[in-house]
Amino acid sequence: MTGPALRAAHGQRPVDRLHRQSAFAVQHRADEMARSGREIFQLGLGEPDLPTPSYIVTAMADSARRGDTGYTQPAGDPAVRSRLARHYSERLGHPLGPNNILLVPGSNMALHFALLALAEPGDEVLIPDPGYPVYAELTRLADAVPVGYRLRAENGFQPDIADLAALLNARTRLIVLNSPHNPTGTSLPAGFGPRLAELVGSYDCHVLRDEAYRSLNFDGVDADRELSALPADRVIVAETLSKSHAMCGWRAGVVLVPDALAADFAVLMTNTNCCMPAFVQQALVPALTSTESQRVAAGYAAVHRERRDLTVRRLRAMPGLSLVAPTGSLYAFPDIRATGLSDGEFAQRLLEETGVVVMPGHIFGTGGQGYVRVAFTRSPQQLTAAFDRMHLFLQRTMEER
Ligand SMILES: Cc1ncc(COP(=O)(O)O)c(C=O)c1O
Repeated sequence: MTGPALRAAHGQRPVDRLHRQSAFAVQHRADEMARSGREIFQLGLGEPDLPTPSYIVTAMADSARRGDTGYTQPAGDPAVRSRLARHYSERLGHPLGPNNILLVPGSNMALHFALLALAEPGDEVLIPDPGYPVYAELTRLADAVPVGYRLRAENGFQPDIADLAALLNARTRLIVLNSPHNPTGTSLPAGFGPRLAELVGSYDCHVLRDEAYRSLNFDGVDADRELSALPADRVIVAETLSKSHAMCGWRAGVVLVPDALAADFAVLMTNTNCCMPAFVQQALVPALTSTESQRVAAGYAAVHRERRDLTVRRLRAMPGLSLVAPTGSLYAFPDIRATGLSDGEFAQRLLEETGVVVMPGHIFGTGGQGYVRVAFTRSPQQLTAAFDRMHLFLQRTMEER
């Protein structure tokens, strides 16, 4: 063995730090079953089934027709960034300039760039456990160390500031917050922000706010208000239109970056993506700033709130499950341990026996073991059909015990 093969065998390449047993194993099997004609009930993927609003599609198409098809500045078109800076200044209540706005192809770039700009090998990053799997993976890719802060069902899956205080140390460079949260659907507890601000003040540490589900906050705290005490020069905000405007495939993300990191993030864009597609950038202005946009996002949130209510009612009626009701996001995260199955076995058997796809909780970290993620991203009729099958599966499983 020589070269890359030898290094791969010893796991010395950055890519070898990523887990290869795919989070999408269940999904692959579901696709296989669908191809062989089985009926599949998709409660696995976190992708809304709603269309991208037509006025956003029109803005993008008009821009492409006008000839916005070349490179832009790496951080994005200056006029778009100026307009978005005004939008976010009004929302957050502190001044932001175009320099603080970076347009990225998907909000994962915010964490990727933050790690490359802030962490040295061996530095630590506090991430929610359970949490979005990409946090741990990108942290390892940057040769930093992911340290999970536990979200416990008995605390309503809300982070406990005492846990964060116990984990913070001189090597902690970043704390990742995600509210509403994937996979549990819960939000930060009231009073969390000021206490976190106090803690962060004593360390050389930034906070990354992952706002992927911000517009899908049904009855949790408002993260903008809750986290307003954090020093703005230590906060990176990751925004995406994927969920709020049903734009997963557009790869439309916005990073709010403090002055001191703006040049680092821009040079990382130059050397990785060059820039977000120019015509997608132009569509961001109406997508984020128009009154139409607020109406659409509120409408999409109302649709998912109803789906959340249906999901909570149905899951709570199933034998063998217990559930902390989600206050936002697209997910419920029931505890399945009373069934006697592991979350992997549960997801696999549920799929094989009923065609219903859910995500096993362990892919979200140790704290997800014994849970499954149920995405309420389908119509009430489709959810009902899936829940009818899941209910019967649980009845059978509990009788077999
Ligand atoms: C918590 C969280 N953050 C970020 C993302 C990334 O979204 P995108 O890459 O589509 O912007 C997702 C996607 O599922 C997510 O669940």
